[in-house]
Amino acid sequence: MTTTAEHTAPGRAASAPPPDQGELQAAFDDAVAADTRIEPRDWMPDAYRATLVRQMAQHAHSEIIGMQPEANWITRAPSLRRKAILMAKVQDEAGHGLYLYSATETLGVSRDDLLDKLHAGRQRYSSIFNYPTLTWADVGAIGWLVDGAAITNQVPLCRCSYGPYARAMVRICKEESFHQRQGYELLLALSRGTPEQHAMAQDAVNRWWWPSLMMFGPADGESAHSAQSMAWKIKRHSNDELRQRFVDICVPQAEVLGLTLPDPDLRWNESRGSYDHGAIDWSEFQEVLRGNGPCNEQRLDRRRTAHENGTWVREAAAAYAAKHAADQDNAHEEARA
Ligand SMILES: [Fe+2]
Ligand SMILES: [Fe+2]
Repeated sequence: MTTTAEHTAPGRAASAPPPDQGELQAAFDDAVAADTRIEPRDWMPDAYRATLVRQMAQHAHSEIIGMQPEANWITRAPSLRRKAILMAKVQDEAGHGLYLYSATETLGVSRDDLLDKLHAGRQRYSSIFNYPTLTWADVGAIGWLVDGAAITNQVPLCRCSYGPYARAMVRICKEESFHQRQGYELLLALSRGTPEQHAMAQDAVNRWWWPSLMMFGPADGESAHSAQSMAWKIKRHSNDELRQRFVDICVPQAEVLGLTLPDPDLRWNESRGSYDHGAIDWSEFQEVLRGNGPCNEQRLDRRRTAHENGTWVREAAAAYAAKHAADQDNAHEEARA
């Protein structure tokens, strides 16, 4: 992690004499208030940096762990077209992980350290990926609901106060939109197919609906980091606001799909102009967070194995980079001689 002395206040020239702590804090507060992006070399409070590292690392980890449940179906996709779409989607998620690890590194942490923490269970990923993908329809339900919830969460992050995170989200959101649509289209095909296919689509939606609502995190009153993150403009809307937005989008989409959502209390509330929904079972969420979801162990085991299997690739890439750097140094020396 870099020190205060190496940073500049947002908007200040790097050559100006170093300002004191109060001045740096005031410049940071002004930049946040004015919606000016905070950049890696700007001074920032330690707690702001730590919050971003926690959130961005969790986000990066979720992207790469999230490849597993769907990759499970690549070899069994029902057609070449479906297989090509699913492979593209899973590769996109790997790319999202790479953008986000790179963005997190701008805060002064190393990717190796972040991955070690994931593998040791000391940093989290989204609990949604601890549920199994039991049938082909789960690929559709994940695209429609899980990627759909991710977009609802992530579009406001394109305006996050930290520049590298906001810029990574712009590209990620474009790709998430394709993921959501491919899931929706897949479910629509199944829903309009044979009675067995329709039942498979309905069963998948029944299993993924509630975990998708949990993706927005605890209710506003219970959320430990929300208020401070909103004050720093890392977050723009509360968990409950985003969850409500997602429910309001999904209900009419489910009608078009010809599928139902598994909540008997779901109904239009004229006075609020939104859908009311039933109570979320937060005890299930807490259990999955504690590591007791159906697939927690399997997901981390596979991730650790994949990391070990990739050792030779990292070593080869590092050796190539070192050789390339040495060649460039030699070329410079020769040019000067
Ligand atoms: Fe993603
Ligand atoms: Fe996605």
